[in-house]
Amino acid sequence: MLTPVKDILKMASDANTSVIAFNALDYNMVYAVTQAAEKVKKPLICMLYPEHHTLNNWANPESFAATVKSLASEVSVPVGLHLDHCTDFNYIMRAIKAGFSCVMYDGSMLSLEENIANTRKVADTAHAFDVAVEAELGHVGFAATVSDQTNLDLYTQPDIAAKFIEESTCDALAVAIGSAHGVYKETPHLDIKRLSEINAATDTPLVLHGGSGIPNDQLDEAFVNGINKFNVGTEFFQLYYDTIKDYGRINGDSGNIFDFPNYCQPILIDYLVKKLELSKF
Ligand code: 13P
Repeated sequence: MLTPVKDILKMASDANTSVIAFNALDYNMVYAVTQAAEKVKKPLICMLYPEHHTLNNWANPESFAATVKSLASEVSVPVGLHLDHCTDFNYIMRAIKAGFSCVMYDGSMLSLEENIANTRKVADTAHAFDVAVEAELGHVGFAATVSDQTNLDLYTQPDIAAKFIEESTCDALAVAIGSAHGVYKETPHLDIKRLSEINAATDTPLVLHGGSGIPNDQLDEAFVNGINKFNVGTEFFQLYYDTIKDYGRINGDSGNIFDFPNYCQPILIDYLVKKLELSKF
């Protein structure tokens, strides 16, 4: 059941847990996401990362939205449609037109003032269409560069989070507390104290990026200390790629492309079902 991301975030906040938001690329991945949600009877969010379209030629916002809308309508649990990291105002407007109910404007590489001003501009337009906006304060970098996850200068400062939310009017805030995108070279150590300080200073849902590879005990703590949306991509992508490799290796020349969805979808669903155990709805 396609449901506004804002409503799903409220459900997560009311349940003092986090919804899991999965990046997806195509029909197989979106199908697995919606079916896994139905299996465990929990809401979740499906996200398009714009560069997968603009750089790699995976789904564009219109086809992605159509796929999520169609497959979400086949399940009874809430499924949200979200645009992940975007810095391009026109692309964000394109996604809103296509039906995304939440969009992330990522101004985390800008000065605080520019980040606030640009997020506010996106929010003013998005809100007119009843679309929610996720922003980022501090900067969640890349796990390939270990200092991105350890450099405290990049972390979100609790004392400016409330001002940022008030002035930018964002509806959800991605925080930098020790996670990073991609494959971790060193186990991350989330700064839960900082997270609870940010949570105490704000009443907006907080978002944790760089979800692949964070130990579950740290996630359990993060979810009861203000994280209401948890983004996962890398693990899911790697698994999808592994299914392609394995299918080819197992079937060799006698395999065919038609049977591949029936091979890979159950494997993707199994992974998602396990991951969704973290989400305590
Ligand atoms: P990972 O790819 O590291 O899981 O992070 C996903 C993410 O944060 C998307 O915004």
